[in-house]
Amino acid sequence: MKILIMGTGYLGTTTAVAFAELGWMVSGFDPDTDKIEALRQGRLPFYEPGLEELLRKHLQSESITFYSDPRTAVQDHDVLFLCVGTPPKADGSADLQFIQAASEQIGSCMNEPKLVVVKSTVPPGTQAKIARWIANAQRAPIRFDVVSNPEFLREGTALQDSLHPDRIIIGSDDEEAADRVRRLYERMDCPIVLTTPTTAELIKYAANSFLATKISFMNELARLCDALDVSAADVARGIGLDPRIGASFLRAGIGYGGSCFPKDVNALMFTAEQYGVPLSLLRQVEQINRSQPAYFLNRMKSRLGNMRGRRIAVLGIAFKPGTDDLREAPALAIIDALLERGASVRVHDPVARLPVGLEARGAVQRESPEGALGGADAALLCTEWPVYASADWLRIKGLMREAIVFDGRNALDARRLKALGFDYHGVGVR
Ligand code: UGA
Repeated sequence: MKILIMGTGYLGTTTAVAFAELGWMVSGFDPDTDKIEALRQGRLPFYEPGLEELLRKHLQSESITFYSDPRTAVQDHDVLFLCVGTPPKADGSADLQFIQAASEQIGSCMNEPKLVVVKSTVPPGTQAKIARWIANAQRAPIRFDVVSNPEFLREGTALQDSLHPDRIIIGSDDEEAADRVRRLYERMDCPIVLTTPTTAELIKYAANSFLATKISFMNELARLCDALDVSAADVARGIGLDPRIGASFLRAGIGYGGSCFPKDVNALMFTAEQYGVPLSLLRQVEQINRSQPAYFLNRMKSRLGNMRGRRIAVLGIAFKPGTDDLREAPALAIIDALLERGASVRVHDPVARLPVGLEARGAVQRESPEGALGGADAALLCTEWPVYASADWLRIKGLMREAIVFDGRNALDARRLKALGFDYHGVGVR
């Protein structure tokens, strides 16, 4: 089987490299010629640990190639993966314009039967639309199958996640088509769930929404922990040891961000509303998450008082460590509010770059943590990059004007910082 990955963003490029690593001949297609040229030279348009090295390895062995012409790309391959983006629209629904465009390209370019596999995150019911878009664009009827195969990789650990998944979900009404997709993953050692396309689509949204629910549950509980003066981390550990609950995704902080949780929680709520089944629990999950940065800012305000003229060192701006992705990063909302209140903001992040909008309003990016922390009235950790936990905080104390730390990810060693004389504040931290 010759695999074509349509869309060479985060999901597409990782999927292409992972299939090459599994021994398949893979190609990537993108209409953006600059992006294709960079990929041909082994350069990624985003940061993901280990991915660029593996891309170069497979470019060299010629098991991965890139196309920017849709006709040759579609005609030269028999399995076409849709990996294009489904960004949020203003009303919270998923924007399917790139999915539609790619489907129509398949329909208008195909010259023989194709197997279309949908990896992009699409609302329940989209597989049928894709089949319609392909059929309507065909010049003459040629057989094709559309199978849903959602992806669960995380930014920062994308390669590990795609090469060693927990499960593979295959949604198809056609047994033979499902079996062809299953064969692509033959070398993987994990459960395979064969189901209907709509179920597969819903599984993806349910997974992200459930993980977001765990985080918001813990974040709201952490507010009570602050009031009761108990440790949210201890509570998380105490409940997480119960295998029915599980220990992961119970870390309280300034809220979840990224291109997936905020978007998918909203898109699932939107779909549910359309079916007359409002998901009231998810509305709360979203509301708690949206208010979490403000909650932490209020805690800062009660300690620092008036922010005007105060110098704050923001450590980490990416929505999580291991990525330069700033989409829905809670750090940005916090920096915006700090600037609004007249604070002077110095930022450090090992890979992410401060958006020009915040720079124009006076926030400054420094190339080292020390550069941001020098002369600061307080440090505010927004992304738990390991470099901050392992920093020499005794030396840092000497650089700061006041030894105050707000740990928005509960990632620093609170006991040690307190022993060093820092006034330490976490989220639900005793
Ligand atoms: C998420 C899912 O974890 C993946 O399984 C899924 O494939 C992906 O979305 C997607 O739909 O494409 P990702 O957004 O890369 O992956 O990142 P996560 O590791 O899930 O973190 C999301 C956010 O939750 C981050 O801002 C992180 O800081 C926050 N988080 C995570 C917490 O605040 N507390 C936790 O305990 C865990």
